Amino acid sequence: MQDIHDMYGRMLSRFQELFGTDGGTPALFRSPGRVNLIGEHTDYNGGHVFPCAITLGTYALVAPRTDNVSRLYSMNLPAKGVIEFPMHGATRSDAYDWANYPIGVVRMMEDAGHAAAHGFDILFYGNLPNGAGLSSSASIEVLMAVILNDELGFGIDRVEIVKLAQKAENQFVGMNCGIMDQFAVGMGKKDCAILLDCNTLSYRYSKLALDGCSIVITNTNKTHSLVTSAYNERRAQCESALKALQKVKPIKALGELTNAEFDAIASAIPDLVERRRARHAVYENNRTLEAVKALEANDVKRFGELMNASHVSLRDDYEVTGPELDTLAELAWQQDGVLGSRMTGGGFAGCTVSIVRDAAIPAFEKNVGDAYAAKIGYAPSFYVANIADGACRLS
Ligand code: GLA
Repeated sequence: MQDIHDMYGRMLSRFQELFGTDGGTPALFRSPGRVNLIGEHTDYNGGHVFPCAITLGTYALVAPRTDNVSRLYSMNLPAKGVIEFPMHGATRSDAYDWANYPIGVVRMMEDAGHAAAHGFDILFYGNLPNGAGLSSSASIEVLMAVILNDELGFGIDRVEIVKLAQKAENQFVGMNCGIMDQFAVGMGKKDCAILLDCNTLSYRYSKLALDGCSIVITNTNKTHSLVTSAYNERRAQCESALKALQKVKPIKALGELTNAEFDAIASAIPDLVERRRARHAVYENNRTLEAVKALEANDVKRFGELMNASHVSLRDDYEVTGPELDTLAELAWQQDGVLGSRMTGGGFAGCTVSIVRDAAIPAFEKNVGDAYAAKIGYAPSFYVANIADGACRLS
């Protein structure tokens, strides 16, 4: 992983080559990625999530322009070149490619009454693996919103920024995601996870004291496709299950139910697949609340057991894992010093998150890495997560 300090010089000289030096030294912003510890596919079901922001993320060098055009460039995707767009009335375009994420944010802010007075030249660089379930999309969306808010002095509060970034992904990009990723990226706090009630957006920070363990992220390195359609399908199945339950109980969201309440009325959902999807959403929400309680009582062992149960539910009831994620989780469960392991993020590909005793990390990486490569045909990657603050200006 390239360290950002080594990258800064390269970013600056590339920025100057592309955009010139007239604007003086560009401002530097950073935005984290996120890893969700537990509470998966609960956010859009009105449940709880427990993510944290991580030091891997996205950086941007930013200089104002005098006209109403912006030019964006990604050092991660140099072949895409400089992407230019108007600051007013921009619409989604395949030609914008990756830049639809930040452009969507400009548009959503404009629609919310925060029209930009001028454009910017922006160079992005990310050290977060793209499409790996660590929220590279939310990272760049929130980053763009924070840049505009800060540079143009809009004075929009953080939770509003988070909502606008989510709206860009929902309405401009077309991914019907919940609020978790943008919230974690925008509201993250060093060394803390966030317990967020997605029904009310009330939240609190929970200091992560892992008792000699670390959070290890393992990337399947599977390049995924069709994730958006499968994700949107799961969401629609849960909405349909909720409608069926509302005929027998006055609830607004699946996240309102205890496991026992759900079991008592589950037969009101005629479709058996939808019934399993809803069971996951309800059980996972209650599991998340129990897990946070356990962690706050220093019971990391119980927290790990609940992570494992979360994976099983995502595998069997929600069916969003797949052979690569299942192989990683099952291998992790067999290792000494692993307290818990599960898929994290939307699923299908991407990463697992594991709680591993510090002394056991080298053996964990070797054993899981070798066995995964032997079974799947290519190696996974490992990152020990450091928990970071939310998106901000650095200089
Ligand atoms: C993706 C979405 C989130 C959330 C997770 C699953 O990361 O962007 O809103 O639904 O999947 O928990």
